[in-house]
Amino acid sequence: MDWTGREIVLGVTGGIAAYKSAEIVSRLRHLGAHVHVIMTKNATEFVSPLTFQTLSANQVVKDTFAAPEYWNVEHVALAKLAEVFVIAPATANILAKMAAGIADDMLSTTVLATKAPVLAAPAMNTGMWTAAATQQNVRTLQSRGVRFCGPDSGLLACGDSGAGRMSEPEEIVKAIEAILRRKQDCAGLRILVTAGATRERLDPVRFLSNDSSGKMGFAIAEAARDRGADVTVVYGNVSVPVPAGIRAIPIESAMDLYETMLREAPAHDAVIQAAAVADYRAEQVSGEKIKKKQGEKWTLTLVENPDIAAAVGKIKKPGQVFAGFAAETEHLQEHAAAKLRKKNLDFIVANDVTRPGAGFNVDTNIASILTETDVTDYPLQSKRELAEEILNRILKIRAGGQSDAD
Ligand code: CTP
Repeated sequence: MDWTGREIVLGVTGGIAAYKSAEIVSRLRHLGAHVHVIMTKNATEFVSPLTFQTLSANQVVKDTFAAPEYWNVEHVALAKLAEVFVIAPATANILAKMAAGIADDMLSTTVLATKAPVLAAPAMNTGMWTAAATQQNVRTLQSRGVRFCGPDSGLLACGDSGAGRMSEPEEIVKAIEAILRRKQDCAGLRILVTAGATRERLDPVRFLSNDSSGKMGFAIAEAARDRGADVTVVYGNVSVPVPAGIRAIPIESAMDLYETMLREAPAHDAVIQAAAVADYRAEQVSGEKIKKKQGEKWTLTLVENPDIAAAVGKIKKPGQVFAGFAAETEHLQEHAAAKLRKKNLDFIVANDVTRPGAGFNVDTNIASILTETDVTDYPLQSKRELAEEILNRILKIRAGGQSDAD
């Protein structure tokens, strides 16, 4: 990759790993990138700004509370200039501030203002890293598209051993490169994704639902967003945060989803149905809480919900790509192939939900992608990796290369 003139902003926060960030700067400079360093006040206690100034050959921006007017100009200028915004080391404190949107110094203000991809390389004591608050902040930031490099495990400066050591500068530079290389190959595509579980009401306090967490659908939405697509996600009940930077439409029941999808699908180039839809709903929904009748059985009559994917498949326009999922516990390929045809899908992502690492509420999946003509089996991979494969497949079909499996 040609690094010449690539604009990297590096935020350095106050941790002992700050000295390692000097090597990040020198590696980036060596490659030909322009590096602009912002140091928090605490960071300057660990490493002299002069070190970063010398290595970057640029002025180091520090917190100068005495000169607020300089602040305004600088934070906007660097926020706009950055192609990648790196924070290394990232302390628990900066992660918490970023998650909350706090802008009380030069670094937090600039990172809040930037539209560039953000990469954080955390470094802290193991206890701080594993603390519920930090982990929650990391998840929040990830859901907004912030990337993480590390932390690694090993002996920490405080004498403890465990996760919390900043990744090596070489790894951080690789992560920056991956971001700069990131494909914008979905730019201009309108992608509609369904995610999560539907809820079928029985009464004001009860419903029928399933174990879907929304992780797979959201992973697709995030990957599509990161590759430049215009994304709409229609989501039911989920256990993870709704990704930022996309149009998100909440629904409750299969009937809500049905109406929303018939309305939305025609305006999209690709539709991916990852929601776990209830096949049945209660024939009668009680307006009042259903009372227990001591000693009596409760018989619930369920009626069939429409097959949303099949309904959307019926109105498919030329050039549109439709994909669905098949969660199976037996005869995976046979059942998935039948659904592919019945729902008029271009491909179906089949997974055996009984296998460890596949299915509901985990971060990984073991899937096969079936088209009319071929089957591709994938190994255990993260839902994000599978999401990238799904997008690759959509692009390939749009380019007219449907039958090649790679
Ligand atoms: N689906 C849908 N509408 C339904 C049921 C399912 O749109 N009423 C979609 C799902 O979002 C998924 C695909 O169809 O993309 C397959 O869902 P799945 O539950 O595996 O299959 P069903 O068609 O419901 O068949 P069965 O429950 O008999 O396995």
